[in-house]
Amino acid sequence: MALRSALMTVMVAAAEKAAKALKRDFGEVEQLQVSRKGPSDYVSAADIKTEKMLVAELTKARPHFGFVLEEGGTIAGTDTEHRWIIDPIDGTTNFLHGIPHFAMSIALQRGDEIMAGVVYNPITEDWFIAEKGIGAFHNNRRMRVSARRNLDDAVVATGIPHKGCPGHDVFIQQSQRVMSATAGIRRFGTASLDLAFVAAGRFDAYWEMGLKPWDIAAGVLLVQEAGGFSADLHGPGSPLLTGNILATNADLHSPLRKCILGQS
Ligand code: IPD
Repeated sequence: MALRSALMTVMVAAAEKAAKALKRDFGEVEQLQVSRKGPSDYVSAADIKTEKMLVAELTKARPHFGFVLEEGGTIAGTDTEHRWIIDPIDGTTNFLHGIPHFAMSIALQRGDEIMAGVVYNPITEDWFIAEKGIGAFHNNRRMRVSARRNLDDAVVATGIPHKGCPGHDVFIQQSQRVMSATAGIRRFGTASLDLAFVAAGRFDAYWEMGLKPWDIAAGVLLVQEAGGFSADLHGPGSPLLTGNILATNADLHSPLRKCILGQS
């Protein structure tokens, strides 16, 4: 990346540092695929270790900011305006299975607003970064959401509720409607990268229900700064609070929302 703000330098440096160990852990997980026990204990240890490294690095740079962490919960900062929202391994199931499609997701929130976001896949070395008012970038290239206007041509990403989570029936009905109206559905298993791919114009849209703020905080800003927008699937309200998201461009938003929800 050519020009970076001091804030983005801090976020990228923290991710780079934590990525070294995470890459080694992923190599180990690939080896463990064939063992009967599987690598699941190993993966939760990697998740916690990565999060601790990110917290340590970010605390060094901004000692007063708080945290909202997937693994460690909420840590209040003495600066109550600023908090980091972090998922150390988004796409844990992919990581566990040796599938190189997962990411660290780091967002900085000030008040209710996301000011900066980094989504980094350490295996493919894809950096997706955004700062409010500055733009969104994939490695060094500025990102724009897709310009497609017709549902017929749209490739739409989604997430399927995990075993034990509510919403399987609703999801099946939603996807039935979407599959008959669009060019295709994709389920890649990493919400932050799904949003990054919408920002990059690779996916025309992405919807999912039941998400946590750390899955989407950085990605929401990527989409916004790439000229698209993310909204709650059902109505007003921030997807960061409701966990139900539809992210796309301005043209597709309303027709796709109606299609997903089965409204004419
Ligand atoms: C999961 C991934 C996945 C999404 C799930 C999330 P995790 O995050 O983002 O794509 O479908 O809803 O929980 O658990 O791997 O950090």
